Amino acid sequence: MIEIHNIQKSFSGVKVLNGISGIFESGKTNLLLGASGTGKSVLLQCIVGLIKPDLGSITYDGKVFTNNKLDLKQEIRRKIGMLFQGSALFDSMNVEENVEFPLRMLTPMSKEERRERVEFCLKRVGLENAGKKMPSEISGGMKKRVGIARAIAPNSRYLFCDEPNSGLDPLTAIKIDELIYELTKEYDITTVIVTHDMNSVMEIGDNIMFLHKGNKLWEGGREEIMDTKVPELREFIFASSLMRAAKKVDEELGSLDELSTIQNGREPEGEKPQE
Ligand SMILES: Nc1ncnc2c1ncn2[C@@H]1O[C@H](COP(=O)(O)OP(=O)(O)O)[C@@H](O)[C@H]1O
Ligand SMILES: [Mg+2]
Repeated sequence: MIEIHNIQKSFSGVKVLNGISGIFESGKTNLLLGASGTGKSVLLQCIVGLIKPDLGSITYDGKVFTNNKLDLKQEIRRKIGMLFQGSALFDSMNVEENVEFPLRMLTPMSKEERRERVEFCLKRVGLENAGKKMPSEISGGMKKRVGIARAIAPNSRYLFCDEPNSGLDPLTAIKIDELIYELTKEYDITTVIVTHDMNSVMEIGDNIMFLHKGNKLWEGGREEIMDTKVPELREFIFASSLMRAAKKVDEELGSLDELSTIQNGREPEGEKPQE
């Protein structure tokens, strides 16, 4: 479990995080949801220690992370796995070497133990036959899988993912979400995911924190988010999911129009299907 309390951060006098508090539970996928530019990535980077917050505290399973001694911070950092936006694989290393990298850096494992662990993790993410491939030879979805395997390889207790399904087609995006969700349950990981994707919310949103302009305006689970009375969140949900649904209907009507034009050789006006 990770607890954050009153996290504040400004850049050049502009407040980006306005005192965020909350709890991220273990064995749960904890989502940081919001439109782009609301401070989700900055908050994630504060939590993992890549950015120093101006104010506030962060504890990992009861151990204070902020303003603590370097060795204690490093002890916590060793248990953190991170899946970066765009996967951030090492281009000069093949898939196996990428997954092995944190094991070489962070663990005292022997070469044989590392080989076994890499094999296990690649199998777990469905890439048992891709170990010798280079990052340039694999698809975006496969890169994410390698990134996930690398993030969990050293038995990470905490997993952070920034927009894990951005740039993927919808089906692959759902598969990546599901994989992160399953691993979270399987190994009781405390997982924090930055997203603006309502599909992810409805699929894997155990706990959701909605951020808007640096403030936390709502938190809850996927089963209650549609009932929210918070106007900013309602607007966000409507903009993302309903607009997409509306667009789909529009496209379907459009293709029906085209079809009827082709079939009947006449203008599609007045030909829209009846409800
Ligand atoms: N290192 C930085 N220096 C200055 N401004 C930053 C920095 N990182 C983020 N910001 C600003 O903070 C705001 C929130 O950014 P970010 O957390 O990346 O948003 P998002 O919710 O899309 O992840 C943005 O206005 C961004 O320009
Ligand atoms: Mg971001």
